[in-house]
Amino acid sequence: MALRRNKITVVGAGFVGATAAHWAAAKELGNVVLIDIIEGMPQGKGLDLMEASPVEGFDADVIGTNDYADTANSDVVIITAGIPRKPGMSRDDLLNTNTNIVKSVTEQVAKYSPEAFLIIVSNPLDAMVYVAHQVSGFPTNRVMGMAGVLDSARFRTFIAMELGVSVKDIQAFVLGGHGDTMVPLPRYTTVSGIPIPDLMPQERIDAIVDRTRKGGGEIVSLLKTGSAFYAPSAACVQMAESILKDQKRILPCAAYCDKEYDVGGYYVGVPVMLGTGGVEKVIEIQLTAEEKAAFDSSVDAVKELVEIIKL
Ligand code: NAI
Ligand code: 2OP
Repeated sequence: MALRRNKITVVGAGFVGATAAHWAAAKELGNVVLIDIIEGMPQGKGLDLMEASPVEGFDADVIGTNDYADTANSDVVIITAGIPRKPGMSRDDLLNTNTNIVKSVTEQVAKYSPEAFLIIVSNPLDAMVYVAHQVSGFPTNRVMGMAGVLDSARFRTFIAMELGVSVKDIQAFVLGGHGDTMVPLPRYTTVSGIPIPDLMPQERIDAIVDRTRKGGGEIVSLLKTGSAFYAPSAACVQMAESILKDQKRILPCAAYCDKEYDVGGYYVGVPVMLGTGGVEKVIEIQLTAEEKAAFDSSVDAVKELVEIIKL
């Protein structure tokens, strides 16, 4: 049987999209197609990245395009198209513009890659995953959003900085929507299995939780012209890798929850198992009354946004 490389399309060749293409190609996850509405830009970035392959020694064809025909039969499509935040803007301020962009992009993606797994990155994240699900008509296991991997990575980074230990030994979970109401869970956060409440005082945990919640805004206020892209792109490529290699990683992702956590049919950040079936399982963990209340209020914030979307 002829083996074929996986095909990964990245929609939006801006900061997140181009860097995601970079990580995906460097990891040899498959051939990569970068697509954008700007003419020439994705072609230039694609060729430039391809020309890095002899130096870095990766085998992956990378092309840029403005034509969805070139994306046909992708296995995974990462959607980053949209506008990013500027200082003073919340992710929710992006709602109307990015709804229209994600809608038009998803129509094309679904037409050309009807069997693909969709990983949405555009903000406001949980609402944009809802848009992509509605517009694509794909089953819920094939439509998901990236936020929890990024938010958890920030949480892990700040813990490692605080304790002066390797990031590799830190496990952490951030649940809920990708907004200021996200729910970092210190109780489920460990350093080599040791819960962080055993390793640092409560006021330091509180400060790190607060910095994690505001992590996106911290980068926006430093960059001034856009938002974070290295960690976000690494995060969505980790999700793609788990699907393409059937790794069955347990990662916090925006997944469709109905009875799960009593969400009632919305996309929110929960722990899921990602494998060749996409979102193969939503994992329900026991939350304390306080954690559940914080999770519910985060879900309410997502619901409020979704209610005002007109497709
Ligand atoms: P960017 O402005 O660098 O790139 C966005 C690209 O989308 C641009 O190249 C633009 O031409 C393209 N685009 C716009 N309309 C399009 C369309 N109809 N079809 C194809 N391409 C189109 O922005 P950046 O920094 O890459 O961020 C992209 C999105 O990802 C933003 O909405 C941002 O808020 C979001 N984001 C989400 C994160 C998360 O955790 N979920 C983390 C970081 C960013
Ligand atoms: C972030 O958290 C902007 O949502 C993006 O960096």
